[in-house]
Amino acid sequence: MTNFDQFLSAAAESMRESAIRKMGSVLAASRDVVSFAPGYPSEAAFAWDEFRTIADDLLSGRRESVLQYGATRGYRPLLEVIVDLMSKRAIETSHERLVVTSGSQQGLDIVGRVLLNPGDVVLVELPSYTGAIAAFRAVGAELVGVRQDADGYDLDALSSTLARLRSDGRRVKFFYTVPNFQNPTGLLVSLAKRLSLLEWAERHDLLIVEDDPYRDLYFSDVTREAETRPLAADDGHDRVIYLSSFSKTLAPGFRVAWLNAAPALVERFEIAKQAADLCNSGLGQQMVNEACRRGVLERQLPRLRTHYQEKRDIMVRALTETLGGALTWELPRGGFFVWARLREPLDGDSLLPFAVARGVIYVMGSAFFVSGQERQYIRLSFSSPSPDRIREGARRLADAISDARAERTAPASPPAEPPSR
Ligand SMILES: Cc1ncc(COP(=O)(O)O)c(C=O)c1O
Repeated sequence: MTNFDQFLSAAAESMRESAIRKMGSVLAASRDVVSFAPGYPSEAAFAWDEFRTIADDLLSGRRESVLQYGATRGYRPLLEVIVDLMSKRAIETSHERLVVTSGSQQGLDIVGRVLLNPGDVVLVELPSYTGAIAAFRAVGAELVGVRQDADGYDLDALSSTLARLRSDGRRVKFFYTVPNFQNPTGLLVSLAKRLSLLEWAERHDLLIVEDDPYRDLYFSDVTREAETRPLAADDGHDRVIYLSSFSKTLAPGFRVAWLNAAPALVERFEIAKQAADLCNSGLGQQMVNEACRRGVLERQLPRLRTHYQEKRDIMVRALTETLGGALTWELPRGGFFVWARLREPLDGDSLLPFAVARGVIYVMGSAFFVSGQERQYIRLSFSSPSPDRIREGARRLADAISDARAERTAPASPPAEPPSR
């Protein structure tokens, strides 16, 4: 038997499977599991009919470029659409500042490969998005977390952490942030903090990586457009590398997202992308391009806001009614997630086998902490399950919590396998 371990790179050895994707195998193993784990958009809300018409038109054979290789930077008409979309977000941009990526996940990977050397430090919010953590760690960066308040990152903590790292001789490259309805906390960073962060980055000669996939999915209590104004809109010094995506608004299956940054950086990103996949899917880009030009995105957004707000409300009501105070949370004002804290002595890691046994899954909060020490939280995604499944999942979670509590008072091994119901 060949020992493949000896052939692995140090980077591959340090890569870990995503805690979110791992939950997929639990789903595959059992038919009846309510999944609050992955942040999947709702399939029921996809614009299926419009996509079918567009696909028919595109695959009629009249437009060869649909199935052909294309430019690494992206399909030109789509770049125009993105320039327009960015101006609605108050970000002035142009083709030289843009690269279409295969999901924002590829954008994060490219940013990591272009900017980071092994041993460089990336500052992240605590907790932070696991996909970004994985992408930056894959190139050997060290991630250092900065705590958040109810309105986002703590700027004093950011400054003192940077000062400490620099006095230790560490090279800090950028701060990674998801200011709108963060994954996993759902937090919305205050406008004051956004502006202060820009000044801070300029003062300390740092870059900011702003990841913004949830910006358009705000709920009715977000009353002012300014509340979701991207950092990139007020960036006068090209400090911000901005990423956004069509995954949560049109569909993730197209794998179409974009990176916006200073032209000098974008040239580097383009070369890194060429090494990864030459170009994006022509079909995916043209589907998205047509969906935007035919008004599908415009029509979808208000529907999606209503759809996800209703699901948030259903989840929060179900948790309140069934869990009797075992969980606490801040109401998310947009996005896909309820970030809930378990009352001690329970924690998200040790509750999971009980939850799986009852047929409900979530993501352990510990997966989102770069230090890996905070176990009190769980991330519950309300975006994908139907209202009935959300209610059923909350009931199962309540049962799992009762089981875990009972086990603490009368020790017994937790049930290992999910039931086959
Ligand atoms: C904060 C954040 N960034 C990036 C992504 C990746 O999105 P995409 O489908 O565009 O790769 C996600 C997906 O969940 C996310 O939550």
